[in-house]
Amino acid sequence: MRIGILGGTGPEGRGLALRLSQAGYPVIIGSRNPQQAALRAEQLRSRLKEEGGPGADIGGLENSAVAEACDILFVAAPFEHAAGLLDNCRAHLRQGQIVVDVTVPLQFRAKRLQLRELPEPSASEHLAKVLPEGVLLVAAFKTIPAHLLEDLSQQLDCHVFVCGDSVEARRRIVQVASRIEGLSPLDVGPLRQAATLERMTVLAIQINKRHKVHHSRYRVVGL
Ligand SMILES: NC(=O)c1ccc[n+]([C@@H]2O[C@H](COP(=O)([O-])OP(=O)(O)OC[C@H]3O[C@@H](n4cnc5c(N)ncnc54)[C@H](OP(=O)(O)O)[C@@H]3O)[C@@H](O)[C@H]2O)c1
Repeated sequence: MRIGILGGTGPEGRGLALRLSQAGYPVIIGSRNPQQAALRAEQLRSRLKEEGGPGADIGGLENSAVAEACDILFVAAPFEHAAGLLDNCRAHLRQGQIVVDVTVPLQFRAKRLQLRELPEPSASEHLAKVLPEGVLLVAAFKTIPAHLLEDLSQQLDCHVFVCGDSVEARRRIVQVASRIEGLSPLDVGPLRQAATLERMTVLAIQINKRHKVHHSRYRVVGL
């Protein structure tokens, strides 16, 4: 099963590509610019080679070609561009495909970090509305810092929360995430939980700032 990462050339996309590739998945990162995607993919393959792993299967293509080629598509562009990006890929989105939304709609207002006000309660519920019928949206990885994903010397050692309105789509993403070393996936139910996850991301960033750390994240006890 090939996993695509739309807008995958930024820190979050690169980190996801590295960890998913280490977990054994073939990955294609997407960009608006296919040369940029191919270059980034080559850099990620070199990094994994330096780590001494087996040859990594990471490619790079223009975003809509990624949508065509993959059954699971992560969306790793900034939230404000994510709907437009999905719309540009629309002709290639199909029944049963799973879109994993990692976006967090952050903005600075009066020097304070906060969530954007949206017509829907969360970024994920907003993006779910722009998808063609039958394409399944799951929200996940929102609370995991990109630089932690990218730094392969660091243990992830945390939970990744997975929500969505399709039980089967949640099950498949939990299964994918469970193959990433150090990550414990937790199914937290329907897509309306995404609003809480987006707030938890804001809290984690504020914890980082207050306590002068970089990688705070969540682990649930008592399960
Ligand atoms: N950074 C974190 O710690 C973190 C943690 C959890 C979730 N997230 C979420 O992950 C997503 C990516 O974060 P990031 O820091 O990696 O973002 P980023 O570097 O700002 O952007 C990622 C990629 O999005 C593409 N992009 C930019 N503008 C675009 C546009 N107008 N249309 C289409 N694509 C565009 C760019 O790729 P090309 O120029 O190659 O097309 C860019 O490399 C965000 O939604 C963020 O909220 C981030």
